[in-house]
Amino acid sequence: YKQLKAFPEGFLWGASTSAYQVEGAYKEDGKGLSVQDLHEPKDIADFKVASDHYHHMKEDVKLMAEMGMKAYRFSIAWTRILPDGDGEVNEKGIQFYNELIDELVSYGIEPVVTMYHFDLPLKLHEKGGWCSRNTIDAFVKYAKILFETYGDRVKYWLTINEQNVMINHPNAMNPGRIPTKKELYQQCHNMFVAAAKATILCHEMVSNGKIGPAPNITAIYPEKCNPADVIAADNWESIRCWLYLDVAVHGRYNSIAWVYMEEKGYTPVIEDGDMEIIAKAKPDFIGVNYYATATVSEARNDGTDCQPRNGDQQVMIGEEGVYRAAKNNYLEETQFGWLIDSIGMRVTLRRIYDRYHLPMLITENGLGAKDKLTEDGCVHDPYRIDYLKRHFHQAQLAISDGVELIGYCPWSFIDLVSTHQGYGKRYGFVYVNRDEKDLKNMARIKKDSFYWYQEVIKNNGLSE
Ligand code: BG6
Repeated sequence: YKQLKAFPEGFLWGASTSAYQVEGAYKEDGKGLSVQDLHEPKDIADFKVASDHYHHMKEDVKLMAEMGMKAYRFSIAWTRILPDGDGEVNEKGIQFYNELIDELVSYGIEPVVTMYHFDLPLKLHEKGGWCSRNTIDAFVKYAKILFETYGDRVKYWLTINEQNVMINHPNAMNPGRIPTKKELYQQCHNMFVAAAKATILCHEMVSNGKIGPAPNITAIYPEKCNPADVIAADNWESIRCWLYLDVAVHGRYNSIAWVYMEEKGYTPVIEDGDMEIIAKAKPDFIGVNYYATATVSEARNDGTDCQPRNGDQQVMIGEEGVYRAAKNNYLEETQFGWLIDSIGMRVTLRRIYDRYHLPMLITENGLGAKDKLTEDGCVHDPYRIDYLKRHFHQAQLAISDGVELIGYCPWSFIDLVSTHQGYGKRYGFVYVNRDEKDLKNMARIKKDSFYWYQEVIKNNGLSE
């Protein structure tokens, strides 16, 4: 019975990347080191060369234009602009993004800039990172430079990528010692203050500027209709997802998350004036990174809830007193064991819209796979086309439900280094001819999904 509404005119069909995963040139032209540059896995790619976008920028933007992209969501490396995080400005870094933005604008591609995507300057990390309030000041200084320099051409800004992932999966962002949960929630609060100050500044400095957060949001399902599972799902959704958007949009911690922090002893120190600044900062839209839903049951509270899942130190089975991850038998998995839940995207978008009533931009969603360059010189990735087709359809259904969706930027425009699985896990519409350790010739090769997406964009949506 559902009547499908068309994607709105001017819909921002785009694609995403992040600086440290795509640029390479990790210490060129004055760039300082970030926490990500310490990552040196033995068998898989690190971030030092990545997709060498730094040296292929014009070629890459030309491909974006050829695919028909209306928007490109990328991040600026804080360490290219301020190598120490808050000291001298690096003109060459400023220049690189000036050229990238000019190039995008020349093709009519809307730049959507993430200010900070997991790559905290190492110098700031060494001085306490987000546990220290000095990092708030450094971020504000950095934000001012960005708005001043690029605000004439960049109208869409995202403050912090996946703040909630940085708090819930802290390993990759904290080389050395993993902070305690109490410290993490302090980091989290400091990030809220920093993002709020940047939001206020953006509105003051960028004419017609629009700014918002970009958390990783996903609906949480209860395993059964057993009310105890429903409470567990609600609680985990509030702690994992709503906490971040409630503070950013409504300017307050929600009671479920706050009580959770109190009970666990994680409440952050909130300085005088923090909540006023946070309340004053009003995002214009919400960036949504969506990959898949999670399903939970009530915690067992027998000492086994807090264990790593599949030996992966990043992903816990659950949390004592809160939830326990459960299997969802209705969903398929990717080659990398990530769940595929396109309908869950509709559920998620509806929940977010109901709670915040702000326009949304999908800033990430996509399929990581072991793509192969075949003898015909092509990359056949029907699985990615199928994945995106289903998700686009659900996005359209969400629009038909009344959700205000302004654009869709799949992850990722081009193959890049995944956060934990190197180069073997590819997401791009464009293949990069390199392996984990063998850099080959870095040639850019359009995958089948490139041509398919080109058609989608041309038709402003799916044709069947
Ligand atoms: C998001 C991040 O969490 O997921 C990206 O913002 C990341 O940086 C993407 O690459 C996919 O995750 P992964 O671990 O497969 O690279």
